[in-house]
Amino acid sequence: MQIVGIAGSLRKGSFNRQLLEAMAALAPEGVTIACHGIEGIPVYDGDVENDSGIPAAVETLKEACSKSDGLLLVTPEYNQSVPGPLKNAMDWMSRPPKDIGKVFRGLPVALTGASAGPNGSRAAQYAWLPVFRGLGLQPWFGGQLYLPRAGEAFDEVGQFSDPDMRDRAQQFVSGFARFVDQNGRQ
Ligand code: FNR
Repeated sequence: MQIVGIAGSLRKGSFNRQLLEAMAALAPEGVTIACHGIEGIPVYDGDVENDSGIPAAVETLKEACSKSDGLLLVTPEYNQSVPGPLKNAMDWMSRPPKDIGKVFRGLPVALTGASAGPNGSRAAQYAWLPVFRGLGLQPWFGGQLYLPRAGEAFDEVGQFSDPDMRDRAQQFVSGFARFVDQNGRQ
């Protein structure tokens, strides 16, 4: 089973990127989580799309989603909502609309995220739901994972510092993998 993971921050020391990589390392046997970022994606501009087409970095993400059995989106929270750079990436990925079917429609998606403060990206995760609905994704609601105070969450080799959080992250990944296995792309 192939799952595409997308971490929605451009920051070098991104907590969300660390969370994605730590979760990928916990994937059950037979499940691969390929870790992607959102580097190299310009701000969406319809004129750029008309003149130059879809940027290569966007095509890479679209292709990865098209070929995967599931999507793990790891979202930062900006001002209690979705972060602009990741929304921009998803907006580009929804172009042209004729590709939405093969890229997104029916694709199982799990959502998690990390924040520096106490909320662990909770508000951002809720704010993604209308976007998922619009794209026809198949959200998995069988688990919830919020990583608060992410500055203290990882050790020097990028593993979870807190064994309880590690267990919860592992259960989350396993639960989503079971959902993908049972439901597939609808
Ligand atoms: C934040 N941050 C933040 N955190 C939070 O829990 N709730 C919020 O509403 C916000 N709002 C917010 C707005 C903006 C513009 C920035 C830049 C940051 C803090 C955020 O959680 C922190 O910067 C994380 O480190 C972002 O994730 P990465 O880049 O570490 O993956």
